Amino acid sequence: MKKIGVFTSGGDSPGMNAAIRACVRTAINSGVQVFGIYRGYQGLVEGDITELNARSVANIIHRGGTFLKSARSQEFRTPEGMAKAKQNMDKLGIEGLVAIGGDGTFTGAHEFWKQHQVKTIGIPGTIDNDLHGTDYTLGFDTAINTVIEAVDKIRDTALSHYRLFFIEVMGRDSGFIAASAAVASGATAVLIPEKETSIEELIKKIDYGKKSGKKSSIVIVAEGGKSGNAYEIAQKVTEKYDYYNTRVTVLGHVQRGGSPSAFDRILASRLGVEATRALITGRHDEMLGIVNNKVEVTPFSAAITDKLPIDQTLLDLSNELCI
Ligand code: F6P
Repeated sequence: MKKIGVFTSGGDSPGMNAAIRACVRTAINSGVQVFGIYRGYQGLVEGDITELNARSVANIIHRGGTFLKSARSQEFRTPEGMAKAKQNMDKLGIEGLVAIGGDGTFTGAHEFWKQHQVKTIGIPGTIDNDLHGTDYTLGFDTAINTVIEAVDKIRDTALSHYRLFFIEVMGRDSGFIAASAAVASGATAVLIPEKETSIEELIKKIDYGKKSGKKSSIVIVAEGGKSGNAYEIAQKVTEKYDYYNTRVTVLGHVQRGGSPSAFDRILASRLGVEATRALITGRHDEMLGIVNNKVEVTPFSAAITDKLPIDQTLLDLSNELCI
């Protein structure tokens, strides 16, 4: 390939900029022209595309968000939108794409291949860590560090007032952020979408802690949990158990921003280089991920359909240490 494009799509995540930088510079090192597509698939549909050079990606490795911006495009999902996107690529002679995003992004790329034979290589970029084919997604490490920094602060005030806190974290329908944060912040309990926990079971845990001398408690609630959001869980608990004064904190989009951790910057650089090399040599319809510290390839079809199971070790650790 002589001309490629790069874009970010779906929810932004820390490390996306570092991945774009790696992609652009690898392409340039290989004598390939590289174009930045703004606002994901929407920019491709609208022709919002600019050529990038090594300086275009200077001073972004340490920045959160994505300088190419992001979107969840409805128009690209239509046959007309997808055809426009292909025409805009053809106008500029763009032969292939590096897509940085989550399962929605790769679903779009897989469809683009099937409908128009557009070659795309994916880099997993989402704070949710919910993709089959990689141990870590870009932004997850930074996000859980943001979460535990917040929980540490809440712990100070929880202890000062002898309170029970329910802290809601992101993750869509995955419990990775919640389970990891629960272990790293020493939470009393964690509720995740992958596992049903009854209110009685939860109260039992909180009460066990209280009886063994705990003065305050932290419960981490994943946003996609089956028993409800943090406010609903807090209400259900306090209706039956009123020993503690209770408060709820929803961390929200603070988890998506911030300067990427060293881990995320290195992961982004590794995957950005490998993805660009793979695309240039003609590989496509695949996501690159990191498995046992090695870069591994997974077909988009598997990355988007196989549900990543929760890491049971995290739940066991949390359970063992929360007494
Ligand atoms: O996929 C990343 C994520 O932050 C999820 O954890 C969350 O459910 C969702 O995006 C929020 O999306 P939006 O920014 O569109 O509200």
